Amino acid sequence: MLNNLNKQPEDKILQLMQLYKDDPRDGKIDLGVGVYKDATGATPIMRAIKAAEKQLWADETTKSYTALTGDAGYQSAMIDLVLGGAAPRDRIAAAHTPGGTGAIHLVLELIQSANPDATVWLSAPTWPNHPSIIKHLGMKMAEYRYFDNESRAVDFDGMMTDLKKVQAGDVVLLHGCCHNPTGANLNATQWGQVADTLLEQGALPFVDIAYQGFGDGLDEDAAAVRLLAGRFPEMMIAASCSKNFGIYRERTGIVMVLSPDSDTTVVTQGNLAHLNRQNFSFPPDHGARLVTMILNDPALKADWMAELEEVRLGMLGLREQLAAELRRLSGSDRFGFVAQHRGMFSRMGATLEQVMELREKHGIYMVGDSRINIAGLNKQSVPILAAALIDVGV
Ligand code: LMR
Repeated sequence: MLNNLNKQPEDKILQLMQLYKDDPRDGKIDLGVGVYKDATGATPIMRAIKAAEKQLWADETTKSYTALTGDAGYQSAMIDLVLGGAAPRDRIAAAHTPGGTGAIHLVLELIQSANPDATVWLSAPTWPNHPSIIKHLGMKMAEYRYFDNESRAVDFDGMMTDLKKVQAGDVVLLHGCCHNPTGANLNATQWGQVADTLLEQGALPFVDIAYQGFGDGLDEDAAAVRLLAGRFPEMMIAASCSKNFGIYRERTGIVMVLSPDSDTTVVTQGNLAHLNRQNFSFPPDHGARLVTMILNDPALKADWMAELEEVRLGMLGLREQLAAELRRLSGSDRFGFVAQHRGMFSRMGATLEQVMELREKHGIYMVGDSRINIAGLNKQSVPILAAALIDVGV
């Protein structure tokens, strides 16, 4: 039987982690996988997480099961963090999932249960795991234009032209903030226009929000998802705590689904529970419990927010330094986009040949589409990256 299996392609982002590890050179620079790193290259455990873990160790009295869709306290705290009251609670079904990937998978399975014919529209480009999971589930997908490789900004005209082709009942996957892999984002006016168009087409938004707090701030980064939640009768959200709480390996994500009325919400909630039961039964509790403790404790929450803000401002500082260094070396403003982009990533617009030259000649690792992880840089490595980019002709 097993000899019938096909060899699966390696995930390009995860493969890069290994290639970097295997490179013996000193001074190599890892701008690959989307994991936050401080100036020393470490991925620290956030202070509030450590404090909550200590408290949990002392206070936790059982490891018995929670609920199929996770702890109700976690759901409420996350609904508040992401939606901030943009939609009434009795229209929101929610389920804790193993990470943001688990949330995306669950939303797609829910869509498949409700409308197997729906086409899921993805931004071109998008996080490679989006099309990969859709393909795995055997669902229909299509792409809308998103990024202009020349200006490295959003191709908004192209996006709007393509969104007008979306059919009623189709689902449009949007990155709530900090677009992965490009770093280019819609402004508030553009989000309003996207909402108008999707409403006209009868399409449903599906928002993936994995970097809340990494762009312009916790509330600012949730503004788009809140705008949509206030206007659409039905929408889906997949959120992740991996990045903003720094708990990557604890697999802490959540699905939120907006239904038109409270009766439908009850049925949606039951479907989320059913799907979790088929996939893994109960979601892992540890990370979600820490998040809940932090969001419900004013002192822990304040400390978490302060540390998250340090992380955000640190990345913004690196963006500005890189843009300035590239301006100086290139004698032009063509790299100004680096300071305009938000979140962990920027797509630099290099060719695959240039990306490979950066890797082989300079020991600089980035994804093949020239996505860099800004947090992989520090003050010392920014000038090295800038010089290498100019050297290979970007
Ligand atoms: C990334 O895009 O690098 C992260 O979301 C990590 C991953 O799982 O790909």
